[in-house]
Amino acid sequence: MKATKLKENIYWVGAIDWNVRNFHGYRTGRGTTYGAYLIMDEKVTLIDTVKAPFAEEMLSRISDIIAPEKIDIVISNHVELDHSGSLPAIRKLCPNASIYTSGPAGVKGLTAHFGTDSYIPVKSGDSISIGRRTLNFVSTPMLHWPDNMVTYCPEEKILFSNDAFGQHFASTERFDDEAYLPVILEEAKKYYGNIIMCYGRQAQTAWNTVNSLDIDMIAPSHGIIWRKNIRDIMEAYALWSGNEPSTGAVVVYDSMWNSTDAMAKTISEAFCDSGIPTRLYDLKSNHYSDIVPDILTCKYIAVGSPTLNSQMLPSVASFLCYLKGLSPKNREAFAFGSYGWGGQSIELVEKELEACGFRICMDKIRIQYIPSAEQLREIYTTIRNMLK
Ligand code: FEO
Repeated sequence: MKATKLKENIYWVGAIDWNVRNFHGYRTGRGTTYGAYLIMDEKVTLIDTVKAPFAEEMLSRISDIIAPEKIDIVISNHVELDHSGSLPAIRKLCPNASIYTSGPAGVKGLTAHFGTDSYIPVKSGDSISIGRRTLNFVSTPMLHWPDNMVTYCPEEKILFSNDAFGQHFASTERFDDEAYLPVILEEAKKYYGNIIMCYGRQAQTAWNTVNSLDIDMIAPSHGIIWRKNIRDIMEAYALWSGNEPSTGAVVVYDSMWNSTDAMAKTISEAFCDSGIPTRLYDLKSNHYSDIVPDILTCKYIAVGSPTLNSQMLPSVASFLCYLKGLSPKNREAFAFGSYGWGGQSIELVEKELEACGFRICMDKIRIQYIPSAEQLREIYTTIRNMLK
């Protein structure tokens, strides 16, 4: 397999995972890539590796440039196995290679995964010379593991950003000017929302650091490499990490016999008629990770569930559990739903919305059995009034 040249003597030697559709709960509809980068300098350097089942693909791409046994230095920006999984394969071929990782978190993580080795810890401000080039390390803890760091090569103005600025996007194209920008920005937003949103404060700190660097290429370890639209992705990260809601609304629900469905559609119409861009998601048809990008930038969230066995529907519980973990906060929310008797689900949904850190902006809406046309009109009017 072929390596892809980024600049003179710098190559992408990663792997393309066309068929992955579930990345620990994140639906990866467009697959993904695992970015590893080879720098041919006095010290042959590999930045990150790939998920273990793709080790042969990475080695084959490295072999397109040089025998993998000649690697002198490995930089492990992140312990998670989609980037470190092929370290054992490299170590086997290169028993004397120096492996740099963040300290102490990276050393601890790699040791836990692969056993004791002579890992060399580095921290923000540290740098190494690999010959004509320098590699500077910037710690980015909790983006999204404690060990995360990024590596910057000032002579080439390349930032090897690992998970940051990445997208789950499998393609034969490697660069942003070869791909359709709206699609990769959409995937970058989905990636940020599902992986990084809960670490917005750390993302802002990292953004400030990265923004101070002279960069003409951002080479993440998932998806497309940014070289033409760096300003677009930097501006997007500034917006997303600010966690400032826009004016949009997201209505998420599941329904048993279409009563909660009718309420959801009425709520959606009321938002829309108030001039608020609105998205409606039935959890029977939509994966929760596909809803998150809209939550990232919305102002209002309405979540509905009928009552089943005194509980909310499991699909709604699962969505709210996932959302609580992502911790979007700083948004207005309310609960709604129909019920036959009891009707406990609506209050349970409201409690979960509060636990997500949302402000409850309206009394929960409960309708027994089937909402009448008049009741739907009432819901519509109540929401229009709330939005005035
Ligand atoms: Fe792509 Fe946190 O690993």
